[in-house]
Amino acid sequence: MKFIEVRDLTIEYTRIDADGKEVPGKKALDGISLDIEKGSFVAVIGMNGSGKSTLAKCLNGLLVPSAGRVAVEGFDTASEEHIWDIRSRVGMVFQNPDNQLVSSIVEDDVAFGPENLGIEPAEIRRRVDNALRRVGMYEKKDKGAHMLSGGQKQRVAIAGAIAMKPDCIVFDEPTAMLDPKGRASVMEIIKDLNTEGITCILITHFMTEAEQADRVIVLKKGKILCDRTPAELFSDREMIEKAGLEMPPVIALRDKAGLPESLMSAEDIAEYVNKR
Ligand SMILES: Nc1ncnc2c1ncn2[C@@H]1O[C@H](COP(=O)(O)OP(=O)(O)OP(=O)(O)O)[C@@H](O)[C@H]1O
Ligand SMILES: [Mg+2]
Repeated sequence: MKFIEVRDLTIEYTRIDADGKEVPGKKALDGISLDIEKGSFVAVIGMNGSGKSTLAKCLNGLLVPSAGRVAVEGFDTASEEHIWDIRSRVGMVFQNPDNQLVSSIVEDDVAFGPENLGIEPAEIRRRVDNALRRVGMYEKKDKGAHMLSGGQKQRVAIAGAIAMKPDCIVFDEPTAMLDPKGRASVMEIIKDLNTEGITCILITHFMTEAEQADRVIVLKKGKILCDRTPAELFSDREMIEKAGLEMPPVIALRDKAGLPESLMSAEDIAEYVNKR
């Protein structure tokens, strides 16, 4: 069984017409199919409005298909009775940390999810402490969330997801509102979580972040434009242009400097330049 199976998934948001009637709007996702393997690290990229957040919300049943099917370990996201089976397996972290923190105190915030799962207090305590240690926020556990920087808030939001012990976390542009330091710390945490076996799905506008995944899915107008490794994708300039995206800064620099196209990372370029 595939961990996450998406088949012919269509999402049609409804809109209100001039007479105040609800009518079908345009398709935000248009018949897409994909599988997510357990333990993988998958980036999802695409222009604004290409359907990335819509896809994210389909993966844990926040949105149910207008047509097609999404299943998590065989549990259909459209079946209400399995919604907790799905939500406990697939966690979400969104872009704006201020919209995700539900409690004013850091540790209460992290405890919120496990409390809702009905877990016993001693186990909640262990999970909260472990999750806060994992993201380097244990020392701030009794602080007010409003005292934290954007990056720290986002780490608390990630701790909240970790405390649910999910198999998978979907990150929807988790670094978009952070400064470079906050972005780097969040990326480190995502990579560590993946190394520890958590399936990570990262939606991002930063090509340098997408480059760090095992696999990149490119969306365009609600369809999958391509699905390949970062090395394959970022050596295909035509595809990047077709997707309306940009090359990662390192690749752009390589091309500006007229260096060989075989160099795919800052390390490759440094080694090549130092040898010359
Ligand atoms: N709640 C909604 N109601 C109606 N249309 C919506 C809704 N949410 C998104 N859309 C539309 O669906 C399409 C896909 O939106 P989505 O938010 O999934 O894109 P995205 O790739 O996440 O974009 P961004 O990069 O800006 O975050 C867009 O055309 C958007 O306007
Ligand atoms: Mg989005």
